Amino acid sequence: MEEVRVFCPATIANISCGFDVLGVALDSVGDEMVVRKTEKKGVFITKIEGQDLPLETERNVAGVAGLALLNRTNYTGGFEIEIYKKIKPGSGIGSSAASSSGAVWAMNHLLGSPFSKTELVTFAMEGERLASDVAHADNVAPALFGDFALVRSYTPLDIVPIKAPEELFATVIHPQIEIKTSDSRKILKTTLTMQTAIKQWGNVGGLIAGLLQNDYDLIGRSLEDYIVEPIRSILIPGFDKVKKASLDAGALGAGISGSGPSIFALSRGKNNAEKVALAMKAVYETIGVEHDIHVSKINHEGVRLV
Ligand code: HSE
Repeated sequence: MEEVRVFCPATIANISCGFDVLGVALDSVGDEMVVRKTEKKGVFITKIEGQDLPLETERNVAGVAGLALLNRTNYTGGFEIEIYKKIKPGSGIGSSAASSSGAVWAMNHLLGSPFSKTELVTFAMEGERLASDVAHADNVAPALFGDFALVRSYTPLDIVPIKAPEELFATVIHPQIEIKTSDSRKILKTTLTMQTAIKQWGNVGGLIAGLLQNDYDLIGRSLEDYIVEPIRSILIPGFDKVKKASLDAGALGAGISGSGPSIFALSRGKNNAEKVALAMKAVYETIGVEHDIHVSKINHEGVRLV
């Protein structure tokens, strides 16, 4: 096999309580990439459609992630990459992670899958380091594994895949502003009180238990963030109103998607997720915020061939 075309899912990182350790992959929002083998050694970005992003390998997240993989193989050739971007960079649904993960998944596939998914996460994290100055894994892990992924530990890297309950749907609204992850990390506090930590890890445990037990109410009760959301939400137009409207419309819970500005909600069933979408949309139409909106089921396999 010389060439593959892959779907690279968008992802919601943090899921309210799990800053830098939890993420989930979406099924109907994502990029596509074509990756093909070349005789010449190296990683070459030959085409990017949909967004204005750098073609130079060292400045492109897919290029950097791809080089990290290539440097760990004995393969004497290289790879060409075409990127068809549908996810807007800086939207908070894992744009850079989709590109990094898609590149390394496709290369691994073309080489006969010598690397495990966790190894692919370590390569894709190099793309995140380039994009946000921090090699966080909470977007690339779900992009590669599908479903929910828990980063139990970074050193050593320990990814725990968690299957999503079948009826869980996500609604994501993206106000048309860009927030760079690196900027939205700089404003966070670096210390917290024991009382806050206790409340937060109660919710992380509750969310994982809720997902494993298909307990939708427990999932909803656990979607609370005492650490990051109070600070970052100030950057997002109408955040409190959108969150309240989605809860009033029946969402299990809602919060900031990754580093924002997108706002996500989780719901039980597609109908509810669509009602939540209408409620979120109504808020932005009333206060005059340009936006796009997605309703998606949860992606169960991560990056896949198309
Ligand atoms: N955990 C990261 C952050 C995700 O919130 O900064 C960025 O998408």
